[in-house]
Amino acid sequence: MKYRVLILGQGGREHALAEHLAASPLLDSLWVCPGNAGMSLRGLSCVADDGADAVVAFCQQNRVHIVVPGPEAYMVTDLKARLHAAGVYCFAPTPHLAQLESSKRFAKGILREAGLPTARAEQIDDLATGRRALAAHDFARGGIVLKADGLAAGKGVVVCPDRGRAEQALHALAAAHGFPMLLEEELAGPELSAFALCAGDAFCLLGTACDYKRISPDPYSANTGGMGAYSPCDFIDDADWRAINRIFARTLQVLGAQGQRYEGFLFAGLMKTATGIQVLEFNVRLGDPEAQALLPRLGCDLLALIVQARDGQLQTAAPAERAECAVHVVAASQGYPQADMLLGQAITLPPDLTGITFAGVSSRQGQLVNSGGRVLGAAALAPSRARARARAYERLGAITFNGMYCRPDIGQ
Ligand SMILES: Nc1ncnc2c1ncn2[C@@H]1O[C@H](COP(=O)(O)OP(=O)(O)O)[C@@H](O)[C@H]1O
Ligand SMILES: [Mg+2]
Repeated sequence: MKYRVLILGQGGREHALAEHLAASPLLDSLWVCPGNAGMSLRGLSCVADDGADAVVAFCQQNRVHIVVPGPEAYMVTDLKARLHAAGVYCFAPTPHLAQLESSKRFAKGILREAGLPTARAEQIDDLATGRRALAAHDFARGGIVLKADGLAAGKGVVVCPDRGRAEQALHALAAAHGFPMLLEEELAGPELSAFALCAGDAFCLLGTACDYKRISPDPYSANTGGMGAYSPCDFIDDADWRAINRIFARTLQVLGAQGQRYEGFLFAGLMKTATGIQVLEFNVRLGDPEAQALLPRLGCDLLALIVQARDGQLQTAAPAERAECAVHVVAASQGYPQADMLLGQAITLPPDLTGITFAGVSSRQGQLVNSGGRVLGAAALAPSRARARARAYERLGAITFNGMYCRPDIGQ
């Protein structure tokens, strides 16, 4: 049996996923909706995005077996249910379970119920409660973190080292996102992301990655969607791995007890603190740009695992990772992450596009131009991270467009 697969999304993560699935011996046909002009250039079939009705109709007309959504936005709609009603399998959690990402409060409740290590938190339901909680907090003992409950595109969390910042953040978050809000204790330590492919109680660990959120090496510079990543994370030991395994296992058990199977990718945002691995958050998808570093290292076929997940045959397994290291560097448009960017610039490409994934690009009279903040990325796989890093920058160095910007220190 070979499968007809549709990926939903248009970024570098979806491009990396498409390249991975395209290499599967189980694949019959692959489409990306909407994809981008760079993916088309690489020979992938892109389909215009005309909304959920059109996606369902496309799947029926083309006898698509499996839909794999990339971004979280698809997981909080009824798309999975509509595809299911049309006889098409969608490898994603239900909107109820997707609250693991779309509601910080829901996620905290699951973590508590699962008995997993996570920052202490209290719920804030209005400004008065928020002010009282801040007044009661002793900032000499540590900072706090304020988190808006819902999806906020990376703009709903503020780390507040002192009372002044906290009061400011309380009002700003309330104005932008309303209530409820979470007030968490601030934890300290390096961050990492761990990924699993899940079905019910079973999960296959895919590996770990570390990403770079700031636009430049300056830790106070602007926050972005992610300027690069490397995989694997280099500061976790065997005890940390056991903790990571337990985090996925317990989370899936507790979710399962809610009466729905969790199906899809699961991304745990973790911090290695002095007392061990703590969970900062969950996402119900792969990361972008983490996926571009993670997927080249996979020693297994994701399509085979997704089929097993669909058929209820996934077996919990150790990470099927290759020993090599991967580094992925993002090239952004001049001005990013501000709204005023230099766009529409012609992109010059080398003949060899190995390791290149496209994101914010479009085609203008047959010429590829930049049309978004994060434009493309270069990934490389090598026996050491230093060599993967050198190779990724070399690949990026062969590409030019006016205003092209990348961080110089990814994978250092
Ligand atoms: N309890 C915490 N202690 C310290 N830093 C935190 C804490 N929670 C979140 N952060 C910081 O804020 C960032 C964003 O928080 P996260 O919960 O991942 O939200 P989101 O990714 O949805 O914006 C984290 O990557 C981390 O750097
Ligand atoms: Mg996060």
